[in-house]
Amino acid sequence: MFSCRVNDRYELRLLQASDSDELFVLTNANRSYLRTWLPWLDSTNSASDTKNFIHSTLEQFAKNQGFVAAICEKKSIIGVIGFNQIDWQNRIGYLGYWLAEAYQGQGIMTISCRVVIDYAFTTLNLNRLVIFCASENKRSQGIPQRLGFNHEGTMCEAEWLYDHFVDHEIYALVRRDWNSRDTK
Ligand SMILES: CC(C)(COP(=O)(O)OP(=O)(O)OC[C@H]1O[C@@H](n2cnc3c(N)ncnc32)[C@H](O)[C@@H]1OP(=O)(O)O)[C@@H](O)C(=O)NCCC(=O)NCCS
Repeated sequence: MFSCRVNDRYELRLLQASDSDELFVLTNANRSYLRTWLPWLDSTNSASDTKNFIHSTLEQFAKNQGFVAAICEKKSIIGVIGFNQIDWQNRIGYLGYWLAEAYQGQGIMTISCRVVIDYAFTTLNLNRLVIFCASENKRSQGIPQRLGFNHEGTMCEAEWLYDHFVDHEIYALVRRDWNSRDTK
């Protein structure tokens, strides 16, 4: 089971079916804020939708194709982080995340990503990590920028968000850069 302590206050642990109600309540309370950048809000209308999502992430984990973890503060879920996809042939992980609005601006996602990146390069033995951020989503872009990812370019109209396309900025980090950064 994936489980990591981030620091005294926060921990990451695999989402479980028993989290459905709590995660749905958090999602619903943050609906309009999350909807600005995430495409699944209109298809998440009940705890049962969230339960189906969690089941799909557990299946993904069982098949070794990625995982989704809860970010918890003293056992309460405040956000989500994980690998939406892992390309084992090329040892690439595609990282995704969201945080409840009230918890923004404290560095929680940056430090959570740092823990997941260490896990990906050491335990999973991945070689390249990728984060796609909408071009206008400056808060999301701040995370790979703070963590030393390289900006590799822009994908034009890469995602349909309800009623419009958004461009994506591609950020990537390879293991040798992360390791050499750590030893400085
Ligand atoms: C993307 C998202 C997780 C970013 O949240 P965030 O709070 O900006 O990110 P962090 O938790 O890493 O916090 C960074 C902020 O805390 C500040 N901070 C405070 N202490 C810090 C510390 N020790 N380390 C790093 N940053 C710190 C940073 O300066 C930064 O604030 P600023 O942008 O005002 O300068 C959040 O906006 C979100 O969930 N958005 C909706 C969903 C979404 O867009 N998901 C991503 C799709 S690609």
